[in-house]
Formats: sequence, C-alpha cells, structure tokens
Amino acid sequence: MTVTGSGGKSGGGGSGPGGTGGRSRGGKVRVKTAKRRTASSNRWLERHLNDPYVAAARAAGYRSRSAFKLKELDEQFSLLGQVERVVDLGAAPGGWCQVVLERRPRAKVVGIDLLAIEPIAGVILFEKDILDDDTEAMLLEALGGRADIVLSDMAANTVGHQATDHLRTMGLIEAGLDMATRLLRPGGTFVAKVLAGGGDGALTGALKTAFTTVKHVKPPASRKGSSEWYVVAQNFKGAAQVED
Ligand SMILES: C[S@@+](CC[C@H](N)C(=O)[O-])C[C@H]1O[C@@H](n2cnc3c(N)ncnc32)[C@H](O)[C@@H]1O
Repeated sequence: MTVTGSGGKSGGGGSGPGGTGGRSRGGKVRVKTAKRRTASSNRWLERHLNDPYVAAARAAGYRSRSAFKLKELDEQFSLLGQVERVVDLGAAPGGWCQVVLERRPRAKVVGIDLLAIEPIAGVILFEKDILDDDTEAMLLEALGGRADIVLSDMAANTVGHQATDHLRTMGLIEAGLDMATRLLRPGGTFVAKVLAGGGDGALTGALKTAFTTVKHVKPPASRKGSSEWYVVAQNFKGAAQVED
C-alpha cells in the first residue's frame, strides 16, 4: 500500500481535538496554540492532522494508522498469505487484527493488550498484561494449537526520560520474543516493533538463535523521525533450539 501526499486531505480541518486550526496555502492544517495544550502536544496534533496515513486509515476504516505498517510488511515479506493461527501482542485499538482478518478471514486470531479493545468480529481479545504468569497458557488455549505467526507492535508507556524509556521498551520487546518462542510452531514467524540504538545487539543475537532469517526494516508508514523499526524473524527453529 502506498499512501502519498503530505498534508493533502487530513480530514481534520481544524475540527480535531481543541478545534482551533486552519489551512495554510499549502493545504496543511495549522494548529493554533491553546492554553490547555503544551507546545509538544500542539506539534503532535499538527503532525497528526497532516498525516496522510491517518486520513487513509480513517477512509479505509482501520482503527490505527499502524495498520499500514503491517500491510507494508506483509507486501514485502508475504507474511499473512498462509497463516491459520495468529497472535497479536499489544493489539489495541485493533488495526493489526483488522489487517490480518482482511487477508485471512478464516484464521484464528487472538489479540491481547493492557487496554480494552472494542470487539472485532472473528477475533478473540484479552484485556491483560503479556507479562502475567498465566498469559501463555491462556493464549495457547484460545489458539487451539501453536501459532503460525506472532505479531508484536507493543510499546511501553513513556516517562519522557530517554534512557529509561529505551530500557522499558527493550524489556517489553524481549518479553515479546520470549512469548513468541513459547507460542510459535517450528517454521513460524515473529514480527516485532524494536528500537534503533543501544542494547539492540543482544536482542538480535537472541533472534538469530531462535530463527533462521532475521531482517530489520522500517516500513514507509513508520514515521521517519521515530526510532522504531520492525524485525521480521522467519523460520522459527523450535523451542528446543532456543533452550539449548
Ligand atoms: C502502538 S500500540 C499497538 C497498535 C496496534 N498494532 C494497532 O494497529 O491497533 C501498542 C500497544 O501495546 C500495549 N502494551 C504495552 N505493554 C503491554 C503489555 N505488557 N501487555 C499487553 N499490551 C501491552 C499498549 O497498551 C498499546 O495499546
């Protein structure tokens, strides 16, 4: 999927949160400052209103702009064409689940998130922490067998301190990998959001131990300024390999 344009149709038109905007000559939505908004939330709002992926997600009925990241990864790696059992870690608000179902309407799709997710017909959803002791058993039972693919778009809540945020997110990614190795069938695939920068070397090593092929990609829908990347790890070697 290619989404083009920089601020063409935002759909915002100044009626977004705060409702105080206008369009510049270039068609971009400009957001006026408001007492109750900080400068950084103003920048976020302006970027959001001018983001072609946000408009495209709304037009396509996706719950998140992230949906396009999975679509682009699927186009590049043919991830979803054959899958029958899918786990989506950090699934709220449900954009990735929607993309999976669109591609594989009969697949068993199980999503989990700390946050409640509005029901999606055909998807089993859990409002739960993936770090809970009983999560693995619960997901396996819901799947009815081992997963063909485990997706993780999880992101930790940030506290604004860069090093702390990085560590928290890396911890979450490692937990996602650990969970994937418990859920996947041999030959299965793990797709996860990771962060560029320090501390990723150990993660890559662990991925290469568990999977035959490991690729790092930044899909076009991932914002250029963000440090997020995605790892696509294919051909899971099997739990015995990981534990060795
Ligand atoms: C970027 S959002 C996912 C967006 C989703 N892929 C979509 O397209 O709608 C990241 C999610 O990870 C969830 N998350 C973070 N830590 C988690 C945890 N320990 N267990 C479950 N979900 C978690 C957050 O609550 C958040 O909803």
